[in-house]
Amino acid sequence: MEEEKKLDAQMSRRSLLINAGKCAVGAAGIAAVASALPGFVSKAEAVGGATEKWPWPYVKLDPEKTAEIAYNEWYRVFCGGAVISSVFSQLREKVGEPYKSFPIDGFVFLEGGMAGWGTVCGSNAGANVVSNLIIGPRIAGPDCEHGHSVGADMMDWYSNTALPTFAPREPKQKTAIIQTTSNSPLCHVSVGKWMKSSGFALASPERKDRCARVSASVAHKLVVDLNAWKDGKFIPRSSWTPGKTVGITGQQNCNECHGTNIPAPPMAKTEVKK
Ligand code: HEC
Repeated sequence: MEEEKKLDAQMSRRSLLINAGKCAVGAAGIAAVASALPGFVSKAEAVGGATEKWPWPYVKLDPEKTAEIAYNEWYRVFCGGAVISSVFSQLREKVGEPYKSFPIDGFVFLEGGMAGWGTVCGSNAGANVVSNLIIGPRIAGPDCEHGHSVGADMMDWYSNTALPTFAPREPKQKTAIIQTTSNSPLCHVSVGKWMKSSGFALASPERKDRCARVSASVAHKLVVDLNAWKDGKFIPRSSWTPGKTVGITGQQNCNECHGTNIPAPPMAKTEVKK
């Protein structure tokens, strides 16, 4: 009974999300959507207080300055922490709360693709933490022309761009840092391809500086996108919805891991447990 009620609430919230998403463009639209969501607001307020109210206010930032902060912060809190810190430390000063209460340094665990496991690159995770709090979740606007989140787009950009794109004003390593395209948002794949091409080991100062520059590149791109979104001008580059289109979550280039023999997930057998 309790479960059914929960499911009903989820379903009606979902249709609300989908319908609302159709017209939710830019900051004002998304703010209206988020404040209309009982699940994201009232319950959250009850358990979490002020920091649980989404979305959070954003003022436009300078991408170059943000990237410099991210580069230097990498040497303190690594990739995920650096991207979050580069945006939120500035918003702490320009906006104040709820950024002042946000535990930036707690996200140090994103290092090494989360505690060294080489899963999603912390820069992508950090960018998604930031965009999620500022814009709201990806699912707030799947059918909206501009509804695909800045965070989801970051995964696409990261995978398909020769990184790092950003060079700091005062690099800590003077060696030339080559660019590689990972074709994946994963730390393991991204770092691995760079190590193979450059010949530098994981523990080398060059690899560390490469990752600091990748974090800075992501921070730069993040702020460019957030600024465009704030102006209602963000145009997403990816409309990748694998769950819907291929029946399994995943990155786009299936062949990278499966070769030519890509397994087909069962599509028909969807059991709803009562
Ligand atoms: C980063 C590597 C990677 C990518 C990219 C990837 N997969 Fe997988 N996938 C795996 C691994 C590893 C497994 C588990 C082992 C297995 O069954 O091959 C798996 C399992 C699966 C399964 C379920 C198990 C099975 O073998 O039937 C399906 C279905 C699947 N993948 C489909 C896809 C599709 C479709 C794409 C592209 C949209 C994709 N995968 C992209 C690595 C990947």
